[in-house]
Amino acid sequence: MNNQVLEALENRRSIRRFKAEQVSKEDLRAVLKAGTYAPTAAGVQAPYIVAVQDPDTVAQLDKMNAAVLDMPQMAHPYYGAPTILLVLVPREGHAPVEDASLVAGNLMNAAYAVGLGSCWIHRGRQMFDSEEGKELLRKWGLPDDLMGVATIALGYPDGDAPAAVPRKENYITEIG
Ligand SMILES: Cc1cc2nc3c(=O)[nH]c(=O)nc-3n(C[C@H](O)[C@H](O)[C@H](O)COP(=O)(O)O)c2cc1C
Repeated sequence: MNNQVLEALENRRSIRRFKAEQVSKEDLRAVLKAGTYAPTAAGVQAPYIVAVQDPDTVAQLDKMNAAVLDMPQMAHPYYGAPTILLVLVPREGHAPVEDASLVAGNLMNAAYAVGLGSCWIHRGRQMFDSEEGKELLRKWGLPDDLMGVATIALGYPDGDAPAAVPRKENYITEIG
């Protein structure tokens, strides 16, 4: 089947090498818009997306994530990406983690669709449970008790994406 959406869903890969060039506002906004159209439980649009392009704040987030990881060899968990996307959500509500995860999925698939590379980087929860994280949220005018669900490295890929590993055999069960 020749379908661009299906092609993107199948061929998006996590990218861990980025060009230094900053993501253009046009590409960034296309990705962010796609994020806002993810389905959310009861349609309440619970998540918040923060797009960080300021180099000092990118460096701060890189350090915060590495500090949670506590692995000195992982000095740059965002792999030098020039942009970091954050998906945060109020803890109470219908389905916070599910909502934020679907937003993150839309963001990463849209990134692929406009020629960007992305990679979900774990530990957003601990980053924004910390006092430093809460301080950032306040600085950005957001509630400081939001839960960090997804953090995403974003940039133009430097080199080819790795091939997908084969899908496990019993991934799908079809009945009928
Ligand atoms: C919840 C979650 C957390 C992840 N955390 C990290 C991470 O901390 N660092 C990283 O390099 N990749 C991380 N990844 C990316 C996965 O390693 C990647 O999606 C997986 O290996 C499959 O590869 P693909 O995305 O290219 O299909 C994470 C992915 C998910 C969904």
